Amino acid sequence: MTTPNSPAPANSPQDRLIVALDFPDAASALALTARVGPAIRWVKVGLELFIAEGPGIISTLAARGLNVFLDLKLHDIPNTVAGAVRTASSAGAGLLTLHAGGGPAMLQAAANAAAGLPNPPQLLAVTVLTSMDAPQLNAIGVSAPPAAQVARLASMAWTSGIRGFVCSAEEITSTHTAFPDATLVIPGIRPAGAAIGDQKRVATPASAIAAGASYLVVGRPITQAPDPAAATTAILREIASATK
Ligand code: C5P
Repeated sequence: MTTPNSPAPANSPQDRLIVALDFPDAASALALTARVGPAIRWVKVGLELFIAEGPGIISTLAARGLNVFLDLKLHDIPNTVAGAVRTASSAGAGLLTLHAGGGPAMLQAAANAAAGLPNPPQLLAVTVLTSMDAPQLNAIGVSAPPAAQVARLASMAWTSGIRGFVCSAEEITSTHTAFPDATLVIPGIRPAGAAIGDQKRVATPASAIAAGASYLVVGRPITQAPDPAAATTAILREIASATK
């Protein structure tokens, strides 16, 4: 049995909050982490920051005591994805996304690659992107409604050995019911009264945790706040209120 880089979320609210570092360069990302300080333990590195800075950004963040959710949404042939799981692990990723749409062979190759590593990231399957509605799915040849497609892909990913999912707040209850042992990572979190921005299916930190979320991904409500540290404290308090 291997020990993942990412332990199961502890009860501490700080272990369940992931701040999305959606910045174009390391300087901006590190400035934000410095402003928030030790209140955060997890950050998300997505394509924008990763392409700008490369894997070195993961060790830079780790050197500041931060765990990294590497959100690269891998989708390629099984051999290539397995290799990417290995190098993401070496780089220090604690959580790593891949597209369930890559199919069972790709997912199994990723799960097998992780199982062979001393300190693997926890793999998270992305089912249907929240930007895909019924017409978008139809255009790529999927006639099933989005919810049915999400359920189909989640089940396939679980059977292929993937034990975590990224899903919207609306899907927490159904996913938690179907896969009670799965790690659920939830973006689209907005504290009560916060600007919704371009997000549609949003939830408050407390309601998402109460519904069964393992981790919450929060970007702009912290990164664009006039006082990011105060915004973080308020969200951590909300998480704590839901876990009592
Ligand atoms: O700023 P905001 O809190 O909306 O950021 C949410 C983060 O979660 C962003 O990095 C965004 O790309 C990501 N995300 C999302 N919705 C999904 C999947 C990922 O908002 N369905």
